[in-house]
Order: sequence, then C-alpha cells, then structure tokens
Amino acid sequence: FYEGEFSNEPDTDWSLGTNRKWAEAIRDKWKKGPEDIPTEIPLIVAGLDVYHGRETQECFDASQKEKVCTARYAMANEEDVIRAVTIAKADPDGWRKKRAEERHRILSRVAAELRRSRGDLLGAAAANTGKVFTESDPEVSEAIDFTEFYPHSVKAYAELNNVECQGKGVGLVISPWNFPIAIPCGGIAASLAAGNTVIFKPASAAVLTAWQLCQCFWKAGISKNVLQFLPCSGSETGVKLTAHPDVNFVILTGGTNTGLRILETRPGIFLAAETGGKNATIVTAMSDRDQAIKNIIHSAFSNCGQKCSATSLVILEKEVYKDERFKKQLVDAAKSCNVGSAWDFHNKMGALIHPPQGDLKKALTELEPGESWALKPENIRNNPCMWTPGIKWGVSPGSYTHMTEFFGPLIGVMSAKNLEHAIELVNQTGYGLTSGLESLDKREQNHWKNQVRAGNLYVNRGTTGAIVLRQPFGGMGKSALGAGIKAGSPSYVAQFMDFKETDFPR
Ligand code: ALA
Repeated sequence: FYEGEFSNEPDTDWSLGTNRKWAEAIRDKWKKGPEDIPTEIPLIVAGLDVYHGRETQECFDASQKEKVCTARYAMANEEDVIRAVTIAKADPDGWRKKRAEERHRILSRVAAELRRSRGDLLGAAAANTGKVFTESDPEVSEAIDFTEFYPHSVKAYAELNNVECQGKGVGLVISPWNFPIAIPCGGIAASLAAGNTVIFKPASAAVLTAWQLCQCFWKAGISKNVLQFLPCSGSETGVKLTAHPDVNFVILTGGTNTGLRILETRPGIFLAAETGGKNATIVTAMSDRDQAIKNIIHSAFSNCGQKCSATSLVILEKEVYKDERFKKQLVDAAKSCNVGSAWDFHNKMGALIHPPQGDLKKALTELEPGESWALKPENIRNNPCMWTPGIKWGVSPGSYTHMTEFFGPLIGVMSAKNLEHAIELVNQTGYGLTSGLESLDKREQNHWKNQVRAGNLYVNRGTTGAIVLRQPFGGMGKSALGAGIKAGSPSYVAQFMDFKETDFPR
C-alpha cells in the first residue's frame, strides 16, 4: 500500500570521514557557546512569546562536569494553561479546516527543516540530556519518518467514500527526556496530521531539545497558535492541563503513575500512553551466541539503558547459562562499552540523566539472595551521573531484579530450564513492551512468538530502535495504559480523528 510512496530516512553514516568532521563542527559550535544557541526559552501561548516564572537549565557535558550552555526556560502557570487551551480550541488559523493534502504539504516542510537541523538537534540533545550522537541521530531519522508518514496515512482515511473525518480538537503531547526528539515529534506530527491543534508539554529535563525541535515546525509554517509550547511542572500545572475539559486527548510517554493520574482526573479521556517495560532477551541453545551478545549489549546499554525498550533481563537456557565462554564474552563486551562525554565519538554511553535514586540506585548497588556480580557497575569520575555497565548473575524468579524496571545500565541474568520456562519468566513481569529471542530454530521462534506477551517481538535482533512502519511500536499489560494504537503504524493517526459515516441520496 505504501510501496514507493514512503521510505524511511537513512541515519548518518559514521564510517564516512566527512560525516565525522561535520559532527565535530557541531560539537565545536555547541561547546563554543551562544551565537544562535538558545539561551532564553519562552513559553509559546496563543502565538506569543511569554517569559515568566523562569527556571534555569544548565546544559553540561556531564563527563567533564563542564558547562556547555545555560538555557533559562519559562514555566507555565494555570493562567497560561487556560489561555493555551482557549486558543487551541478556537483554532483562529483554521488548521482543523485544512484539507489533509494541505496539512501533508506543510508537514513535509517540517521534515525538510528536520533534515536541515539534524546537527543542531544532535547538539541540543547532547548538551541538554547527555545523549551521544550515535543515539540521537536515529531519533532525527525517526522524527522525519513520523512527519512524512503520519500525514501520508491520514490521506488514506480522507479519501474514503462516504466518510467524513476530522480532528478531535485539542491534543496534549507529554513527552519524555530519553527520546527528546523522536517521541515528541511523533505525537505532535500525528496530532497535526489528523487535524488537531497541539499543546506540547516537554519533559523538564529536555526543554532545550524540545525548543530546538519546535523551531522546525514553526519555521515550516505551523503557526504558534496551532503548536503551543508549555514547559511546566507536571504535578502543579501539568495536572491542570490534563484536567481541562477542552483537551480532547492526551499522548503520553512516561511513567505509569502519570498515566494513572491522568485517568483519575479525566475518566474517559482518550489517552494514548506508552509507559515502560521490563524487557527480556531469551537466548536458547539453538542461538548464534556471538550475535546474541552483540544484540544484548546494544539493547541493554545504549543510551545507558534509559529506554523503555531496553533489554534489562537476559534469560539463558540452561546450556547457555553454564557456558563459561558465553559469560566471559558477555562481560568482556560490556566492559568494552566506553562511558564518557556525549561529545566524544568513541563513547557508547554518556551520563545518566539524573544521579541514580530509588529503584535504580538499589539495583546498581545491592544484591539479592542468589545473585552475584558478573560485572559490578561503578560510579566513575567522581560524578554521580557516570556509571559503567553492570551484569547481575543468578537472578531469582520473583525477585526485585526480575520484576522491577530500573531504567539504567544494568542487566539481570536468569537461568531457565527450557524455552517454555524462559517464556514464563518473561510473562511473569506483567509488562509487555519489547521482547527478544536469540534462536536460529524456526520451531522455537514460532512457539515463542505465540506464547510471549509483548507488543514488539524481535528475533535475532536487539530490542530497541523500532523503525516507523516496519516495526510499529507499542506494548500491552503494564506497558500500556488507555487505548493507544502502535506508534508508527498506518492506523495510529485514526485514533485522533472523529469519523462520520455519510449516506446522502444522490
Ligand atoms: N521506539 C523506541 C525504541 O524502539 C522506544 O527503542
């Protein structure tokens, strides 16, 4: 259906010297400081720049403890919320009335702006969240895919005979800090493509990146009445946004508790939520063990394991569990992940977004009965955000390590009698986002596919980095709240539209 009409945007080829030079120039520009690097970030409410209640966000190279830039951003209050929702509902620029083709044309211009701004988006994510270029680069590609694909998929609905479709009204996009480019871009692009106006509340830890992203929409001709920008405290002002009766739907990527709070304050609101995972990769005796190690390392430690899709459990069939060579190679591979500055290209891992607290701190520092460190994570460079990868061996069923999502650079390794048992251990977590199987055996692959509870199943491939249209992304169980359809799928946009069946006599 989409053959020849949509193709995925390629990532930067880092093997080319010219591309590495280009990235060095971005690094130099961002590290040199201001010029066109944003330092004063207003709210955008009802088309206007609003500066008040300002917070300061220090963007720093956490490995060097060196400040890259200081961005001061405004924080919205209740009054801003009311003004923003009023204008989003009124839609004075008539976004909702535009034909789907027209919206597509404008969103294609956003894609072009994103292509042009790739460098600054990488710079912003590194300065703002410590994300290494090799990780934020695929995010920009995904963001471009979303802005191209969603309006494209809306056209399929707009062209149906006897069907009138229009946006639901006002969409609220609440985005996370760990994918500060692709995830907000996907929510905004889908809402706009479907004919809605959007209020965007970015994660407080990623306001600068969000601001850089919004420039691409505004420069492409999306007006500041159509896309409004409202950084705010989630618990104080964010709740006023979700509680406002004129907000018609919410797209949330974030914590389960945030999702539950939204459903409590607005029972019945349409909530498309992706809320986390406790993802496992199973390695059976029938696997290519070298390939399994490569896939696990990337899935577990890229972006320091701070991905809802990350592998944080590795479940080994008995024979693999007892294979000392496998264990040594897994540990050696984890040790080979360089941890350091987001600006140095040989580093696979940058700094954690925050010093570990709560679940993550416990996971990184404590062992439970039966567990031992195959590789003990270390806090390095006298910097609370810098941690080397960790591997816990001998994790017991039902334990904290088995059941808890940590969001950090750590894997727990478990032993399973056979594939059946391994699948039981996966399903026992109650989450269901991504799942990996390392096996070359077709019967095992089929059995696993039918039994495992997860939204994204990957065979002999890592569990992160879903590609738009090829691997629509979204989970089940504790990984999903509300009624969301998978992001990056042809039907994603339909959930933000109302449909009227019309049967008029001719
Ligand atoms: N869509 C992101 C991934 O697949 C979360 O890793």
